[in-house]
Amino acid sequence: MMPQNSSTKASDLLVLGIESTCDETAAAVVRNGEEILSNVISSQSDLHAVYGGVVPELACRRHIDLFIPVLDEALATAKLSLHDIDLLATAYGPGLIGALFIGLEGTKALSLALNKPFVAVNHIEAHLYAAIMSVKEPIAYPALGVVLSGGHTSLLIIHGIGEYTLIAETVDDAVGEAFDKVAKMLGLSYPGGPLIEERAKKGDRKRFSFHAGQVKGKPLHFSFSGLKTAVLYAKQKLSPPYPIDDIAASFQEAAVKDIVSKVILAAEKYRLETLIFGGGVTQNQYLRQFFAEHAPHLRQVWPAPKLSLDNGAMIAGLGYHQYCLQGKGDSLSLAAKTRIFL
Ligand code: KG4
Ligand code: ZN
Repeated sequence: MMPQNSSTKASDLLVLGIESTCDETAAAVVRNGEEILSNVISSQSDLHAVYGGVVPELACRRHIDLFIPVLDEALATAKLSLHDIDLLATAYGPGLIGALFIGLEGTKALSLALNKPFVAVNHIEAHLYAAIMSVKEPIAYPALGVVLSGGHTSLLIIHGIGEYTLIAETVDDAVGEAFDKVAKMLGLSYPGGPLIEERAKKGDRKRFSFHAGQVKGKPLHFSFSGLKTAVLYAKQKLSPPYPIDDIAASFQEAAVKDIVSKVILAAEKYRLETLIFGGGVTQNQYLRQFFAEHAPHLRQVWPAPKLSLDNGAMIAGLGYHQYCLQGKGDSLSLAAKTRIFL
């Protein structure tokens, strides 16, 4: 067992983390990868709700408008000035290219102007780190990483911070994307995940027999596009008023059951006893409850509520470890990447 953070140490480091990969502009100050001094998140969901999804051009403009105010607020809340910061961290991918560009180039500009190092982290890795930084008890590695976000659905073996082996991923939609698309079909707003969860509470989860896909020869991989189409067909067979609550509950049941069963299978196959969850879908309380009931033999490490969705604290936290592992900052020539894997 490797105790958490054993591989990375540094004397007191104040890290400013900046997040702008999609539709949240966020900044946070974190001391030594753990102690959150501020965590400011400005969500753009209202801006995109009318379109039923994120409009990249609008997201970029909003990031530009909010970059400085959000950063200022994060520093003010932490009662610090930019000069007190030792290290800058941001995500260089995956995400929307324009949105990534604003966060990355803005952070590089700060690094240059302040003569302070910066590190560029993987946004998905940061989602997993969000759970790690949410608990005090040491984590026994290797652990199974479960990424459930709007853009990714994957299972990884986490050997320690910075060391991962990808074992499964979605072959089509990410689970959060499926929640968002089903919500849109049902006339619900964006982001659809929380709204589906809310409507599902009043619904009959057994009314429709939906199932997520199985990938031939790859039992741990995910597929949600067939499930999404099944919801569409079920709705088309009905006439208004549609039983939105029952459809939402039956869809959520199918998605959650599929994730839980594949995670249990992966944990057995790779003999892993700890699950580390990351990504916005981890906000879903039905999912958490289902895991608690069906996998009580596995330790479940979830991100704290303020760290589930996109945020700057997970970027600053992971940035600290990456800096300690690398022993130096990244080059100013580092480029943003829309797709990167762990
Ligand atoms: O991780 P995240 O903030 O952004 C990405 O990196 O993609 O995840 C956003 C996703 C959206 O698809 C959103 O609908 C979903 O997380 N989500 C939820 C819930 N809250 C957010 N999905 C299901 N149930 C929720 N309560
Ligand atoms: Zn994210």
